[in-house]
Amino acid sequence: MTELKNDRYLRALAKQPVDRTPIWMMRQAGRYLPEYRKVRQQAGDFMSLCRNAELACEVTLQPLRRFPLDAAILFSDILTIPDAMGLELYFEAGEGPKFGKPVRSLAEIEKLAVPDMEQSLGYVMDAVRTIRRELNGEVPLIGFSGSPWTLATYMVEGGSTKNFSKVKKLAFSEPQAMALLLDKLADSVIDYLNAQIAAGAQAVMIFDTWGGVLSPRDYQQLSLAPMQKIVNGLTRHADGRKVPVTLFTKNGGQWLEAMAATGADALGVDWTTNLADARARVGGQVALQGNMDPSILYASPQRIEEEVATILASYGQGSGHVFNLGHGIHPEVDPEHAGAFIDAVQRLSPAYHR
Ligand code: CP3
Repeated sequence: MTELKNDRYLRALAKQPVDRTPIWMMRQAGRYLPEYRKVRQQAGDFMSLCRNAELACEVTLQPLRRFPLDAAILFSDILTIPDAMGLELYFEAGEGPKFGKPVRSLAEIEKLAVPDMEQSLGYVMDAVRTIRRELNGEVPLIGFSGSPWTLATYMVEGGSTKNFSKVKKLAFSEPQAMALLLDKLADSVIDYLNAQIAAGAQAVMIFDTWGGVLSPRDYQQLSLAPMQKIVNGLTRHADGRKVPVTLFTKNGGQWLEAMAATGADALGVDWTTNLADARARVGGQVALQGNMDPSILYASPQRIEEEVATILASYGQGSGHVFNLGHGIHPEVDPEHAGAFIDAVQRLSPAYHR
């Protein structure tokens, strides 16, 4: 295997010393980049882009050509698993993801099978292998999945939702049906992340976008417990090294202790949580990723730099911080502002590592 030339991201996850704070951006490949929109148009629809390893690799690398980022993230989507389970994922222009066959009953859930990775998700592993080859050791490649609860919200609602009424109705009126769905999803995610690791992913991240809409008790049971099962089920690299895993529950700042207790290596935090507080609470156990409000990228480069300075000072001295946004970059952001953001992190962060 090619030697990794920039291991800042992996070192920060392990809380080993770094020369500056590593940075990557959630959704760093995407519609805010004109070069992405061009390839996306060429591919036709979004899933065709995901299914084409060469094009998925191309859009993965685009942000790295523009900006000195410290990690690449696989270009794919969290909804590939339900698609592989037969729910027929499609994207309606301007409306986000939809499923042709959502699941709403115990009978439908009983029929779902854990997908065969090479057969129905082989295109994802092909993309991972292609990206690793083309990255040529420049930066590490992050693989990812959705959390079982987050996947379940899309599968039961049939798409995006504001009030989560269908998925919560299922969870509370038919708890056994929800438990079975979450268990099948946890098993699928374990296989999926392990297949990505076998194909070359050097770290993995679990996106729990919707754990934050649950009560503390239900978060534990419906979101965190299945993620715990996944953390326990991840395999090691062929040489025995652990593959670092980051858990990110959007709006989950109140549960950082419980998340850290899963044995995850790092936790993603959004901008509603103060990073200094988060570090005081769990910084002894885990690295922290975050946490600038992506909307700050609409502000002037000077305001962006001020925010970067505030966040760096909030985490404070020493390793264990991966700079990121607290959620995905918005499609309307000017790429030059993203550049100013990354530049500010690079210029201002070395002072925190001396
Ligand atoms: O971060 C990256 O650059 C890697 C790629 C990535 C995508 N989706 C590409 C994508 C990742 C990590 C995701 C994760 C994802 N997908 C999440 C979890 C993170 C989060 O944002 O909370 C969720 C909830 C999804 C589901 C999903 N996929 C939605 C809601 C949408 C529609 C978004 C929109 O604004 O229309 C997608 C499609 C999608 N996934 C796009 C991209 C670049 C836009 C597709 C396009 O039209 O080109």
